Amino acid sequence: MEVFSDIKGLRQYLKSFQDQRKSIGFIPTMGALHRGHLELIKVSTKANDITVCSIFVNPTQFNNPNDLKNYPREISKDIAKLEGIYCDVLFIPDGKIMYRKGDILNFDFGYLEEIMEGKYRPGHFKGVALIVAKLFNIVSPNKAYFGTKDLQQLTMIQKLTQELFFDVEIIPVETVRASDGLALSSRNLLLTKEERNQAIDLIQALNEAKNKLYAGESVLSVKEYVKEYFKNESLIQLEYFEIVDSEFLNNIAHFKPGKRVSLCIAGQLGKVRLIDNLSLN
Ligand code: PAF
Repeated sequence: MEVFSDIKGLRQYLKSFQDQRKSIGFIPTMGALHRGHLELIKVSTKANDITVCSIFVNPTQFNNPNDLKNYPREISKDIAKLEGIYCDVLFIPDGKIMYRKGDILNFDFGYLEEIMEGKYRPGHFKGVALIVAKLFNIVSPNKAYFGTKDLQQLTMIQKLTQELFFDVEIIPVETVRASDGLALSSRNLLLTKEERNQAIDLIQALNEAKNKLYAGESVLSVKEYVKEYFKNESLIQLEYFEIVDSEFLNNIAHFKPGKRVSLCIAGQLGKVRLIDNLSLN
């Protein structure tokens, strides 16, 4: 695997592939790689001539300084994992390369910044968009792969790509789960053993909500049920549970089987914030 920490070196290396019209698949990450990331890379290596992964813990997307400080960093383990699945290129820039003194660019994603993750993590999507736009410009990938666990991030990146005419196809990849259903996340590493056992309450609540909707219960009563469940029966402090259309993420008032709907949830478990979602149809 070729490893680059500078933009010029990476661009020069990728240019020869671009000149030969070889396809480049790209997976941006913040490291602490788990099976979910590795799945994105595997999907890319099957579909492209060359796969580039980046690892950069992006400070501008953390609204909570402690979250940034505690974010797991495991670079040597990550490199070994990437080599194990034949990733071709790794880009690991440092903060001074990605953000320079005097940078002023700022994105605004309108309503997407006011709902769910946007509401609970002010500024988060501005930071994600900024780093993803910079990385897209550096790597110029043909395809970029993102997990559906971060559904709102995926929606925002699709908007970013369309509105700025980035010539890259955004490929969503299904959430990878542990055998008990917990969605894999780098933050799971920060859970205590007891918290890890509790964390499955999120997916269990999503599954119960799904069953209730299919059984004909109203959106309102399902939302009420989930709120009560977390108030009385879980260590997780629920931040939100929303039932939204899967494309624009607007709240829906009535559920009709056959429509693309997503159930989105987030909560705080000890020091760790967890999110998950389930898409119906
Ligand atoms: O999903 C992530 O890991 C990050 O938000 C991303 C897309 C790598 C941007 O820093």
